[in-house]
Amino acid sequence: MKILITGNLPDDIVAPLVELFDVTIHRFDHPISRDQFLQSVRGKQGLLCMITDQVDEEVFSIAPELKVVANFGVGFDNIDISAATSRGILVSNTPGVLTQATADLTMALILAVGRRVVEGDNFTRRGAFQFWAPFHFLGQEITGKRLGIVGMGRIGTAVAQRAAGFEMPVLYHNRHRLPIAKEQRLSASYVDLNTLLQQSDFVSLHIPLTPKTHHLIGQNELAVMKSNAYLINTARGPVVDEAALLQALQQGQIGGAGMDVYEHEPALTPGLETLDNVILLPHMGSATAETRRAMGALAVENLKAGLQGRLPPNCLNPDGIKR
Ligand code: 8YV
Repeated sequence: MKILITGNLPDDIVAPLVELFDVTIHRFDHPISRDQFLQSVRGKQGLLCMITDQVDEEVFSIAPELKVVANFGVGFDNIDISAATSRGILVSNTPGVLTQATADLTMALILAVGRRVVEGDNFTRRGAFQFWAPFHFLGQEITGKRLGIVGMGRIGTAVAQRAAGFEMPVLYHNRHRLPIAKEQRLSASYVDLNTLLQQSDFVSLHIPLTPKTHHLIGQNELAVMKSNAYLINTARGPVVDEAALLQALQQGQIGGAGMDVYEHEPALTPGLETLDNVILLPHMGSATAETRRAMGALAVENLKAGLQGRLPPNCLNPDGIKR
């Protein structure tokens, strides 16, 4: 069987596939171009793709032999699951292994934007640190501030656990309320989105991108946030209306933002880069050596299982497939 891997994964990670299958790897760090992708996927039974690849009906019709798609990432908004399901293609993702790394980066953004870490680094680097003064570079106290978590799944929960170390009371909003015992364990209170936005000092997004969450945070939602509150996004860019965010930041409607993802990724809404109270990261929530290796290993395991006629451990569409 033939496989396409669209990301430059280490040899030892892809070895279990190379042993068993005829493997083509996109050996470059830049994402595979659409043309190259469509050309290379032809005739393949297995695809290990990156979140930068749009895996849609066009791909499935060009590669009718495709049986299994393994996404390198937990978010799968890049894949048309219903088109895959109707063609009997198994799709999987990489949940769990990146939870801690992404929660850690979320805390890094909260701390860095609240305490002006990047601004301070830039200041010092350009030689502007000429004297110390008692009221220079004042930020927000993090300890004790209220954290609003939108989406209390695996990553949201891991962020709540970390917030406890900073004595941050947690409000959360989720599709479903958690069992009371879990709420108590996390010291988290369930509220509607509006209340969360009104009352939180940091609002952190941990929801998947779906048609329902697209632009969940727009002009109206930003308008109800506190004028010194921060928006943190390590989920997916299009969950936030970035033009509205830029406007809210420029007008001082909110205190700042910590962003790892963008609406038109990798492009930024022009103007964001000029703001000191915004931290802009290049989608690196899961970017630790340990986690990226674990994601690779899990995607490999999912693909291998599917191609060997087993259900991939992280199959996203097991019920829809007639097998
Ligand atoms: C990316 C992510 O997959 O898992 C996700 O959904 O957004 C990240 O872990 C990773 O950055 C690889 O592109």
